[in-house]
Amino acid sequence: MKKILIFLAAILQVHSQLLEINVDVEIQQPEESPEQSPGQLPEPLPAQLTEDGRLNFVALANKYGFQASEESIITEDGYILSLFHIHGNPCKPMLLIHGNTGTGDCWIVRGNNSLAITLARRGYDVWVANQRGSRYSRKHIFLDPDLQPEKFFNFTFYELAVYDMPPVIDFILQETGQEQLTAIGWSVGTTQLYVLGAEKPEYNDKIKLAVSLAPISVLQNLRGLVKWAAAIGPEGLELFKLANVQELISFHQTAPALQAICLQPGGYELCFQILFFSVFGYDPDGLEPEFQNTLYGHFPGGSSRKLFSHLVQVIKRNKFAKYDYGFERNLIVYNSTEPPEFDLRKVTMKSALFMGKEDFLGTVADAELLKGLLPNVVHYQVLPYEKFNHIDFVWGRYAPDNFQPYLMEVLDKYE
Ligand SMILES: *[C@@H]1O[C@H](CO)[C@@H](O)[C@H](O)[C@H]1NC(C)=O
Ligand SMILES: *[C@@H]1O[C@H](CO)[C@@H](O)[C@H](O)[C@H]1NC(C)=O
Ligand SMILES: *[C@@H]1O[C@H](CO)[C@@H](O)[C@H](O)[C@H]1NC(C)=O
Repeated sequence: MKKILIFLAAILQVHSQLLEINVDVEIQQPEESPEQSPGQLPEPLPAQLTEDGRLNFVALANKYGFQASEESIITEDGYILSLFHIHGNPCKPMLLIHGNTGTGDCWIVRGNNSLAITLARRGYDVWVANQRGSRYSRKHIFLDPDLQPEKFFNFTFYELAVYDMPPVIDFILQETGQEQLTAIGWSVGTTQLYVLGAEKPEYNDKIKLAVSLAPISVLQNLRGLVKWAAAIGPEGLELFKLANVQELISFHQTAPALQAICLQPGGYELCFQILFFSVFGYDPDGLEPEFQNTLYGHFPGGSSRKLFSHLVQVIKRNKFAKYDYGFERNLIVYNSTEPPEFDLRKVTMKSALFMGKEDFLGTVADAELLKGLLPNVVHYQVLPYEKFNHIDFVWGRYAPDNFQPYLMEVLDKYE
C-alpha cells in the first residue's frame, strides 16, 4: 500500500519533501546529481532501459531506415516548439499530433512497428508536433518555465490549438510547397483539431483529412478511474494551484520515478495493471511488461495543471467549451458569465474517426455524440479487436494488425 501511495505521489509530482516521504529512487545516480536540464534523461541511464528507450526520435528514425531532423517553430506568443521530421515524399505531408502528457515520441516508441515509421515506409513526409510545455517544447523566447511557471504553464488545449497548430501547419505547407496536409491526432491531439477548425476556420481548408484516434471532445460517457477522479478533480487540482504547482507529470520529475518503481519486480502489476489499465482500458495482451523498458525513456512528456482543469471542466460542466474562470472573470474575458462553447459546426474539414471498444477515455458512446456534431465525418469506425484501449493506438503491440491496416485503407482513399 505504501508503495502505491509513493507511486501516486511521484506520478502527481508532489514534491517528496512536501510529504516527507523518501522516494527510494533506485537508479544509479551520482550522489550529488548535477542540475539536470529538463528534457534530459538522468545520466547514467537506468540499466534496464532498452536501446530504443535511450535513443531520441531522430536516432530512432535513423535506426529504422529513415533520414530525420528536428525543427524549431516559434509561436505568436513566444513558445519555441520542437517539430520532428522524417523525410519522405514532400507531396504527401502528414502531421501527427500527440495527446496530453505525451510527446511526439509516442508515435515512434514501438520502433519498426510504430505508426511514424509505418507511414514513412509508405512514402509520407512525416512531421511530428510537440505541444508547448512538454519535454521538447519546454522553451520560450523570454519566459522561464522553472522561474515563471504560472506564466509559462498558463495554457490549455485551447492555446495548443489556436497558437501552436497554425505556425506548425503553415511551416509544413511552406516547406513542402503543398496547399494541404493530412493530420492525425490522438486523444487530446484530436481535441486540438476540433478547436482549431472551430476557432480558426480558415485552417479547415489546409487539412485534406483529419484523422481522429480516440477522439476527445464531449466527455459524457467516461469509464474507469478518470470518471471517479474527475468527481474529486476540481478540489485536487485546486491544491496544486494553492501550492503553485503549474506543471504536471513532467518528464524530468516523473520519468525517474516511473523508471525506479515500474521497472522493479511487481512494477508492471502496479503501473500497468493497477494504474494505466484503470485509466485507459484493460489490454494486458497488447501492452506487455517488457515494453516498459522502452516506454519510460520516452514517457511522460509533461503538461499544465490548467489543461487538466480544463478537461475536468468539460466533464463536470457537460459542455465542450472554453476555460471557465468563474462568473466574474468570465465576464471580463468572454463578456459573458459562462464560457462560450466551441462551435463544432465550423469544423468543416473531412474527419475520420477511429475508436477502440475498450477505450475508457475516448469512448464509443462519446464518439457517437461527436459524429452527430461534426458536419463532415467521412469515415467512422469502431475497431473490431475487443480489447483495443486508449493507448493501443500508439503503444499497442498489435497495432500493426488490429489498427494500422484500417487507417491505411482510409488514407489511401483520401490521398
Ligand atoms: C523493419 O521492418 C521492415 C519491413 O517490415 C524490414 O524489412 C526491416 O528489416 C526492419 N528493420 C529493422 C531494423 O528491424
Ligand atoms: C493567463 O492567461 C489569461 C488569458 O489567456 C490571462 O487573462 C491571465 O492573466 C494569465 N495569467 C497569468 C498568470 O499570466
Ligand atoms: C457584451 O455582450 C452584450 C450582451 O450579450 C452585448 O450587448 C455587448 O455588445 C457585448 N460587448 C462587447 C464589447 O462585445
